[in-house]
Amino acid sequence: MKRLQRLGSSAALRDLVAEIGFGAAQLVQPLFVVEGLAAPEPVPGLGDNDRLPLSELGARVERDLADGVRQFMLFVVPAAKQTRGFDASFAARAIETVKARSSGAATLWVDTCLCSHTASGHCCLHDAQGRQDLPGTLAELSQLAQVYADAGADGIAPSDMNDGRVARLRSTLDTAGHDLVPIMSYSSKFASNLYGPFRVAADSAPQHGDRRSYQLDVRSARAAQAASLRCAEEGADLLMVKPGMSSIDLIAGIAARTGLPVGAYQVSGEYASLTLLAREGLANFDAALLESWYVMRRAGAAFIITYGARRARALGLP
Ligand code: PBG
Ligand code: ZN
Repeated sequence: MKRLQRLGSSAALRDLVAEIGFGAAQLVQPLFVVEGLAAPEPVPGLGDNDRLPLSELGARVERDLADGVRQFMLFVVPAAKQTRGFDASFAARAIETVKARSSGAATLWVDTCLCSHTASGHCCLHDAQGRQDLPGTLAELSQLAQVYADAGADGIAPSDMNDGRVARLRSTLDTAGHDLVPIMSYSSKFASNLYGPFRVAADSAPQHGDRRSYQLDVRSARAAQAASLRCAEEGADLLMVKPGMSSIDLIAGIAARTGLPVGAYQVSGEYASLTLLAREGLANFDAALLESWYVMRRAGAAFIITYGARRARALGLP
C-alpha cells in the first residue's frame, strides 16, 4: 500500500487533498475531446465547455492553465462504437497532447469508463443473456487504464460503478509499474436525472434501459456510504460523491469512516441549472456558482469537479 507516498508525491496532489483552504487548486476542470470532430461544438447548458477536436485541446489547456486551473478531468470520446475490444489509441494521443502542452503544471485525471465506447451506451458489457458481464468489463477497464497511464495520465478516475473495478485497476497499475498513479474513484455515484448535458457531450446515453442496475439509488444513504467504503478497502486513494449537491449529506461521514479525501462532482445538470437560471435573469451566475462551491466545501468536500473551475480566478478565489 503506497497511498501516502502517492498522495504526497507532488505539490499539486498535496494541494488537491489539503483539508483547509479553497481556491483553484481544489477545483478540477473537465475537458471533452472528441475523435474526428472538425471544430469545437457547444454543449447545451455547459457554457464554454465545448466538445473539442484534438487539434484544439492543447490551446484550451494552455488558456486554462493561465487562468489558474491545475487539475483536469479528461473525457475521451472515440469515433467508433464497439461491443468489446475497445481502442484507446485516440485517448493516448489526447493524454500525450495535454501533458506535452502543460509541461508539468497540470495534473491530468482521466475518466475511465466504457459508456463512450459501447454501442449500448452502458458503462459495462453485457452477455448474450443481457446480464452484466463483469469479468469482460473489468478486463476492458483495466486495458484502458493501462494505456492511459502509459500515455502519461497522472491519475485514473473510474466512473463505471462496476463491482471490483478499483481493486482490479490498482493491481493492473501496480503490475505495469504505475504504482504511484493514484485512483480517484467515483465511489458514491447515484443514478441521476442530472447527467443529461454530459451524455450529449460524451455521446454516452444508454441505448436501452438505464443505469440503475449499477448506479446507486438516491433513496439509500447507507448503501451509498458502503459503496465508498468498498472503494477505500479496494485501494482507492481519493473518493467522490456525485451529483455533488444531491450528496452533501454523505461527504463528512464517508471522510470520517475512511480517512480519505472525498470530493464532490458538480455534475452537468447541476451546472446547467445555474446557466439556465442566469439566462432567464433569475440568478447571478457567478454568485450562484460560488455559493454552490461553498456549500460543497462546507459539507466537507476536499475538492470539487466543476465545469466552472476555469472561472475561479475571475470569481476572486486564490
Ligand atoms: C460516465 C460518466 C458520467 C458522468 C461522469 N462520467 C455519466 C453517467 O454515468 O451517466 C456524469 C458527469 C456529468 O453529468 O457532469 N460514466
Ligand atoms: Zn460510464
